[in-house]
Parts: sequence; C-alpha cells; structure tokens
Amino acid sequence: MSFSIFPWSFKCIAEHRLAMDLVACKWIPTITLAFLLLIFTASLWNLESNQADQYPFPGDLTNMILDKLEGWSLGKNGFTEDSNKRGLKAVGPNMTTCHPSYGRTDLLVNCCPPGFQSPVPFVDFQFPDPQSPLRIRRPTHAIDADFLAKYNKALTIMKSLPHDDPRSFSRQANLHCLFCTGAYDQQNYNAPVSIHRTWLFFPWHRMMIYFHERIIGSLIGDETFALPYWAWDIPEGMVMPDMYTNKSSSFFHTQRDASHLPPNTADLNYVSDTNISREDQLDINLSFMYNQMVSGARKTELFMGCKYKAGTEGYCDGPGTIELAPHNALHTWVGSSLNPGREDMGKFYSAARDPIFYAHHSNIDRLWEVWREFNKHQLDITDPDWLESFFFFYDENLRLVRVKVSDVLDIIKLGYSYEQVHRPWLNKRPKPSFPPKLARQMLKTKENENKLQMLSTHFSSSDFEPHGRALDASLAVKVRNHWSKKEKEEENVIVVHGIEVKGDAYVKFEVYVNLVDESKISPKFREFAGTFAHIPGAAASKKKIDLKLGVSELLEDLEADQDESIWVTLLPKTPSCSNVTIGGVRMEFIK
Ligand code: C2O
Repeated sequence: MSFSIFPWSFKCIAEHRLAMDLVACKWIPTITLAFLLLIFTASLWNLESNQADQYPFPGDLTNMILDKLEGWSLGKNGFTEDSNKRGLKAVGPNMTTCHPSYGRTDLLVNCCPPGFQSPVPFVDFQFPDPQSPLRIRRPTHAIDADFLAKYNKALTIMKSLPHDDPRSFSRQANLHCLFCTGAYDQQNYNAPVSIHRTWLFFPWHRMMIYFHERIIGSLIGDETFALPYWAWDIPEGMVMPDMYTNKSSSFFHTQRDASHLPPNTADLNYVSDTNISREDQLDINLSFMYNQMVSGARKTELFMGCKYKAGTEGYCDGPGTIELAPHNALHTWVGSSLNPGREDMGKFYSAARDPIFYAHHSNIDRLWEVWREFNKHQLDITDPDWLESFFFFYDENLRLVRVKVSDVLDIIKLGYSYEQVHRPWLNKRPKPSFPPKLARQMLKTKENENKLQMLSTHFSSSDFEPHGRALDASLAVKVRNHWSKKEKEEENVIVVHGIEVKGDAYVKFEVYVNLVDESKISPKFREFAGTFAHIPGAAASKKKIDLKLGVSELLEDLEADQDESIWVTLLPKTPSCSNVTIGGVRMEFIK
C-alpha cells in the first residue's frame, strides 16, 4: 500500500536491490504514514478539547496539518517556531530579511543594522523585577532642572555611542525607520511588516519607547529614569516644550519648523498655518480631543485601527482616531517646512532622529491607557493574532528580546506609570454650528433644487467605484442611514472607503455631517466627524485605505439619528488632496 502512496518508494526499490534494503523501502514510508496519522488524530483530539476556537470549520483541518508540518520545517530557523502555529495570523518580522526601503517615494534609505544577515540568538521577554522602583513619566511642562540635567547627560552619552552599539541614538532612531518603511519581511510570508495605520500602532510604539527608556536609564545607572511626556492634549502642553528648544542641550534639533517654536500654539489638527488667536486654537484643540478620544472612539477599531494579520491577505490600512491626529498632524507640525517631506518629524523614516519624538510617543502611549481606563478595559482587544504579534528589540543589557503584544498590556508590570494630568477635553462636547432642524430643512431644499439643476459638488450617489473620485474640491454626498436596522449597542460609522493617495506630500481632509456653511466650520463644531491626516511613504502595499469615523453621538446631537439619509461633506485641506481619490462613502454599524 505504501508503494502507491510514496513515489519515493519506487525510486528506493529501483536503487536498492538487496533484500534488507527492500524491507527498509517498504517500512520507512509505512512508518512515516502511521506517524502522520497519529499527529492528525492527536490534533483532532486537541481540537475538541481546547483549541476549537482557532479551527472552527472542518475545512481548516487541512490548514491545521499544513501548519503542523510548516511549524516543524520552520523550527530550524532561529527566529521562528510557535508564533504562527495552529493557524495564528500573528505578525512579526523575519530579522534576516532586512533590505533598503523607501523613506519617501524618491528616497531609498538603508536603516538595516550591521550584521543582520545572520540570525542572532534572542531571549523571550521577561517583566522587570517587581521590586524595582516604578518609573514615573511626568509631563514635559512639569519636570525640574535635576531631571533635565540627568536626561541631558544620558542622551549625550547615547548620542556618542558608536553605530555598532544597538543602544546608540542612531540605532534607536533607525528602529522606527525599519518598521515604518517595510524594511523587514514577515516571518513565513513574503509581505512587509508595517506598524502604522493598524492595530499594531499603539503596542509597537510602546515597546520601542519602553526599551529606549530603560537603555537611557542604564547609561547613567538610574533605575528610576522615566521618559517625560509631551502633554499636548492639555493647554499647558499645547506648545513645543521648552526643553527641546534649548540650543545647548542634547534635546535640541535643527530640523524643525522655525515658525512653530514657542510661544506658538500647537495645532493638534495641523494643516497649514493660520492666524487664529491662542484662545481659539486652545478651544478647537480641546473639542478636537473630545472627538478623537470620546465620541469618535467608542468602538475598539475606531481607536486602535484595523485588524492587521499576517500575510499579504492579512494586510489592512485603517488608522485609528489618535493616530490620524494629533499623532500624524503633530509629526507634520514639528517637522521642518524647508525639507521635502517636512523631515525629520514629518516623515517616519527620519522622525525618531528628533528627541522630541520620544516625548510625543510617550503621550500617545499615555492616551492609550487613558482610553482603556475610560472604557474599563471592556474594549481591549482579545484576538490572539494581535496578542501574539511580536517584535525584537535590544534591551539595556544588549540582549535581543522577542516581545509580544500580550507582554505590553500592563504598564505597572512593565515598571512604569504616568503622573496624571487633568482632562479638560472630557467636557468639551461640541455644539452644532447651525440649528440642526434648520440645517436639515435647508439641505432638503437644496436637494430638491439639485434635482432640477445638479450642482457639481452635491451627489446623491455615494459610490464612485470602480474609478473613484478625485478630491480636488469639496464633495458632499448623500448617504443612506438604515437607522431602523441598527441594534442598541451598535455604533454608526461613516466609512470613507477606497482612499487612494498618490504622491508624497502630507494629505489632510476633514469630514462633516449635514453641513450648510463651509466657510465658518472647524472641529470646534458638532458637524465635525473626523479627519484624514496622512503621512505617505510607509510600508509598501497597494491596499486602499478605509477611514472609519464613529458618529452615533454626533447624529444624536444633530438630531439626525433617525433620518433616512445624511449629507457627508469631505473638505480637502491640503493642495495634495488633488492626488487623492476616494471610492465612496457609506454608513455602517459596528458592534
Ligand atoms: Cu511611528 Cu509617531 O510614528
């Protein structure tokens, strides 16, 4: 029987004519077959007992066996074994695949560490000693001179380390370059690793600054060292922190926008320079924060970003609220307008060369905690593909550490915490710019006029596929709302789908609901649903982007939650929007 299954047997018999060898030719395949059957049965048993969730359908049994076999063959490579076994689609880099990558469409960069070609032994992440002191991250506007001196000294040392040393500042900066430009392939897949615009955004950056902080501390022998955070979400922090502008310190960096130095107020939703008063800017910033943290972030995906899984098929491009802005917007605001990509902060390949990057991300990291806390951890992701996604970082002892997302979900266990600041944006729920009833009436009238004489900016179709529609001018589309089908716990979500960005410039457009007057609008008003703030040039994938904006509270406030349809207006804010096409706009419910 085994002869017909294994062609190898024929060859074997042809080559080995001695009786003893013939016996071997018969038995080796038979034993192999029996062994495979055994594994198969064991896996079936396993399926029934505890792993049923990962292989819900009988068709997946084939995958399961393939995974098993794949698992064995990959075990040889020092970087792989258990992570993607049993059908998991966790993302992680194959560290030996580093290659030059594009920092901008016209700029090839090589951020690979020396000697990456051969696998380096690694250890699995372990929590720091729970007895060691908690590192308390404080806001940049509240740190003292002692702390500054200490940090300055450590950063000076870090900057003086040779590039060969993974703790050196240049290597730290390159970490960001490597993961944001797609310089690594994923383990087991011919697809790049990407850390922006997906649910890996928060955990990857947490890992990066965690190791960075510990390295800095160890360079001055200070176990309590904690990175400061730039609290741009509160008025005290809505300015470039002073410490970064002191020319004689290691925090100073030349590649920044000179017109955004203090006392210029930070624009959390930055597009281009305006001359509004500080007071107005603060007001807009706070309402904007409310939208990004509260009303626009009531479901996991809206805040965390899309579910990015391993392989080409698993790729997605859908950023969460905070990542879009203030995160992207402030990267752009800080970077120098004299450089083609507003480097250094304005492009991801170069962003971490600016010391302010670490305080910026410290605040991003803190806001992730604030959001989790608000939602009593009810919205935390439990998908094993996310939890098992992993990366490698060098620690303060020059060990390469493999760290999984599940390792970085408890900051106290990670040995750090945040000094709390107030949250003035919490009660900045915006008010409509126009009486909602009147607005809806006006839009109805306009629609009827449109039927007679179609205005080129208002569309009753919200689907522009397959070719898409350019965003060279503002665009208002009527979108059906199917409100009666909505279940109680569900969130209304506006999806601007199939966004395609050509070119390399910062792209920004804003989305408004039931807007009647474009001229006086800003995120200060309830009509504001969200923003698309995009820094092109990240990891290579041709997938189009979906922008998802949670609007249930907004629709209630605009008294439109039970309307059959709403008007959604896209307002281009940068000239680069003429390089943007969108596939359409639709309304969805998210559980
Ligand atoms: Cu990886 Cu602030 O970007």
